[in-house]
Amino acid sequence: AADCFENLLLTGRHVLITAGPTQENIDPVRYITNHSSGKMGFALAEAAAEAGARVTLVSGPVHLPTPDRVERIDVVSARDMLAACEAAMPCDLLIAAAAVADYRPEVVAPHKLKKNPANGEGMLLQLVRNPDILATLAKRPDRPFCVGFAAETDNLLEYATRKLLDKNLDLIIANDVANPNIGFNSEENAVSVIDRQRHETRFDQASKGHIARQLIAFIADRYQ
Ligand code: CTP
Ligand code: CA
Repeated sequence: AADCFENLLLTGRHVLITAGPTQENIDPVRYITNHSSGKMGFALAEAAAEAGARVTLVSGPVHLPTPDRVERIDVVSARDMLAACEAAMPCDLLIAAAAVADYRPEVVAPHKLKKNPANGEGMLLQLVRNPDILATLAKRPDRPFCVGFAAETDNLLEYATRKLLDKNLDLIIANDVANPNIGFNSEENAVSVIDRQRHETRFDQASKGHIARQLIAFIADRYQ
């Protein structure tokens, strides 16, 4: 499997990757988001292209250059990301590396919100659930081989395994975001991949580029 790059094991395959955070507008100047840098998703897109795949990278707002031979589609909100992914279907493999905002403001104010003295010192913002992009695509009749990420601060393997089963995935990549040296917004990562037999494969701490190449080799091997 390690030579999937020399053998271009993903030649002729369409790989769809989501990356980065999403931004959910509150008003024209404010939004809700998270600390995702997009680095892991972009590194996976680069590695998949190196393995010969046609790669579509649907990215939230990030500050990263587009990898060579990757088609990048920029989006802002979770709903935009879902629509862009649906438009990019069908694909053979889906890797959902995006940190999608779980909620968005119920209404986006058309004008900049002003402080309201009638509310005293407090402010309530009503939120509603965003669609689950990965679970939605995993339910389609033309379902691809589905790989998710689980970024957790605690109970990593238990929560990751639950997501694998609940979302009907083939593999889930678990990373511990409580460790400041790895994961969100850092240069390095260390992950475990869990399959449907609950077997865990560890990838020790390394640069996101190195981890991405190892993950693409592993995913390509399981996809075969
Ligand atoms: N995901 C997605 N769409 C969402 C939320 C999550 O596609 N609206 C994907 C992520 O890209 C990731 C996987 O689902 O591959 C798990 O995301 P995570 O945030 O860890 O899990 P959630 O299901 O949102 O559960 P929670 O945040 O409550 O732990
Ligand atoms: Ca979430």
